[in-house]
Amino acid sequence: MAAGKGTRMKSERPKVLHRLAGRPLLQHVLASCAALKAERTHVVTGFGAEQVEQTLAGQPVRCVRQEPQLGTGHAVQQVAPFLDGDGTTLILNGDVPLLASATMQRLAAASNGGALVLLTVELADPSGYGRIVRDGTAVRGIVEHKDATPTQRRIREVYTGAMAAPTAQLRRWVGALRNDNAQHEYYLTDIVAMAVAEGVPVTTLPVGDETEVLGINDPLQLADMERRVQRRQAEALMSGGVRLADPARLDVRGELHCGRDVEIDVNCVFEGRVELGDGVRIGAHCVIRDTVIEAGAEILPFTDFTRAHIGAGAQVGPFARLRPGADLGPEVHIGNFVEVKNATLARGAKANHLAYLGDATVGERVNYGAGSITANYDGANKHRTVIGANVHVGSNCVLVAPVTVGEGATIGAGSTIGKDAPAGQLTVARARQTTIAGWARPVKKKEKG
Ligand code: UD1
Ligand code: CA
Repeated sequence: MAAGKGTRMKSERPKVLHRLAGRPLLQHVLASCAALKAERTHVVTGFGAEQVEQTLAGQPVRCVRQEPQLGTGHAVQQVAPFLDGDGTTLILNGDVPLLASATMQRLAAASNGGALVLLTVELADPSGYGRIVRDGTAVRGIVEHKDATPTQRRIREVYTGAMAAPTAQLRRWVGALRNDNAQHEYYLTDIVAMAVAEGVPVTTLPVGDETEVLGINDPLQLADMERRVQRRQAEALMSGGVRLADPARLDVRGELHCGRDVEIDVNCVFEGRVELGDGVRIGAHCVIRDTVIEAGAEILPFTDFTRAHIGAGAQVGPFARLRPGADLGPEVHIGNFVEVKNATLARGAKANHLAYLGDATVGERVNYGAGSITANYDGANKHRTVIGANVHVGSNCVLVAPVTVGEGATIGAGSTIGKDAPAGQLTVARARQTTIAGWARPVKKKEKG
């Protein structure tokens, strides 16, 4: 069920598209669902349906619209025509992101096409949740928080939003729901009392770890859940040997794969798919997206990477920016305030300070001086700069692309290079220095009177 507006999020974005660890809430649920090998998966969409459906494009699910959104029971009513046979239907809330597929599996197995099985949890603070009402040990029904009496509100056993039901009965039950309750909604949870009345077995499956079943209803719960997810991910990394300076100050919004002896300092953010080879060290405050960093490389603080590849033993940062297509060979050094985009630097090349390398091919052991840039854009098109091996580019040079600097060449400081520079020679392109003999600095005129 993913049709609700999520009023308490106070957002234009449908609640199930808010991100947890970099992925929409709904994607977490569907990823766990996929492992079940269900015959069919339906997603009920409604509020922001186009947006939700767009994010599901290409996934093996059928979206069913719920217009207007009259409650969770009404949501299931929309799917009922697509449910056939006498198997088991699993119903999940799109805003309960961490439910594990093993738990879903146990829930479905417990129903086995016969019983109505409710996934429950004991909460210290059950407010907002539907309470499990029992008569002795037998389940009588679920009462929603807003409809509960003060005595019922003290019940700490709650419904988590996941249930498994016999498909044929489920269709019948949701067809018979009414909305005479505090919220004037069709509550899915009212089917529990119907099952009890018909003598269909109703059982509960308690979960031990409340994190697995916490729902996201507002920004506070989303942020709280984010920290829980991050803690889990940090623990998994550390149990694999990764040394985190502080597990509470790490954010992985995607997949982070680490080799042996990886060290990560505080406040780093990893997005998309990131790979860190053996012995890689990441300094504090780095943001790394979709990047591979090979063994032994050292990243100094405050460095930003997007779709880059960093060779073994390279040293990058502090304060460097590696943009898409930055491909550094082994032992390359990139220093502070250096930006690299769509450029290949071969083994041992160095750009240590204040430089830009865009659309460039840089040979082995090139030394690229402070303040030098490639002028890669003529206002309409991008052009390439090719710098041969062992070139020395002095400080504050402009290489106006397309241009080639031959192997072993030296470019004098302050040069603007618009034509190819030959290999092995010194090329200088700047005005000659002159000294004006006898020149006197002007002096301020004395004020009269
Ligand atoms: C629901 C349960 C409550 C349970 C809690 C667990 C009902 C009536 N209540 O309450 O017993 O303790 O989940 O988290 O089921 N949705 C639709 N269409 C609608 C309304 C909701 O698709 O018309 C979807 C929402 O997008 C959401 C899910 O159903 O993914 C749950 O809806 P929500 O309004 O958050 O229900 P709760 O009040 O949390
Ligand atoms: Ca909810």
